[in-house]
Amino acid sequence: MKLKTKDLLTLNELGKSELLGIIDDAIKMKKDLKKGVSKPLLKNKTLAMIFQKPSTRTRVSFETGMFQLGGHALNLSADELQLKRGETIEDTAKTLSRYVDLIMARVYSHDELELLAKNSPVSVINGLSDSFHPCQILADLMTIKEKKKKLAGLKLAWIGDGNNVCSSMIYGCAKTGISISIATPKGYEPNPDVIKASSKLTEVKMSNHPETAVNGADIVVTDTFVSIHHQTTDRTNDFLPRFQVNSSLMKKANPSAIFMHCLPAKRGQEVTSEVIDGPQSVVWDEAENRLHAQKALMVALLRRV
Ligand code: CP
Ligand code: NVA
Repeated sequence: MKLKTKDLLTLNELGKSELLGIIDDAIKMKKDLKKGVSKPLLKNKTLAMIFQKPSTRTRVSFETGMFQLGGHALNLSADELQLKRGETIEDTAKTLSRYVDLIMARVYSHDELELLAKNSPVSVINGLSDSFHPCQILADLMTIKEKKKKLAGLKLAWIGDGNNVCSSMIYGCAKTGISISIATPKGYEPNPDVIKASSKLTEVKMSNHPETAVNGADIVVTDTFVSIHHQTTDRTNDFLPRFQVNSSLMKKANPSAIFMHCLPAKRGQEVTSEVIDGPQSVVWDEAENRLHAQKALMVALLRRV
């Protein structure tokens, strides 16, 4: 798979066939890895990973992925770069691009990521901003394809905060023909521009009723009520108890529905232990698939037309 876009910041940059191609490549790479086959497709390539915020999955999956592809990843905490002392994002982008082949950044502000991408001749990947989390949704769509053997025609329910992960999920559903029903408390709806653009491609339903959203759903998804960029605000009272994914809510979905969560999870808040540790949960496959999906993404970005 070759891509037209230089950067992956939201997921909306990818055409439908590009997105489906990355998912298929990722599934193939996963099968190959399990058979002990790992091709050095990124030999002598270097990835810079900038982290303004903590991470477990993103950091380890990108670094391991680069290693498996024969390349190298540099873990750069933003606090240890000259950014901390006031060097601009623009100058950081121009400098890093002289050394590395790819940049992945986890930032607070999506505007900073756009600035980074605009000033980097090399590809920039969003490793989570306050607005989007495209790599998570690549892994999520891959997981759905593995579990359900298809994407188009499925129904996905998003319960809780209409946050960064939700926005990339809406784009992902729109491009793959999954219909999405989102239930949030009032005031926590996703970005209206994302909904408007995606509604042209798939059914996007919005409500404040989790039971309605999960009715007939093949996939039930939630995320933390308090994202990293919200950490100073206590928002949980606006969500509990109605927006918790528990067994009683899961029973209202399709009996074969799977439960997904990007992790890290707060058991007893957005999801109960019974659900996340129960038979319908696919969260560990979902976490593993970050590795495979991002390997396919990095290879595709470096092969771009
Ligand atoms: N899901 C996810 O991005 O996890 P990390 O914050 O651990 O990277
Ligand atoms: N919405 C969460 C996702 C973490 C992977 C956050 O932004 O903190």
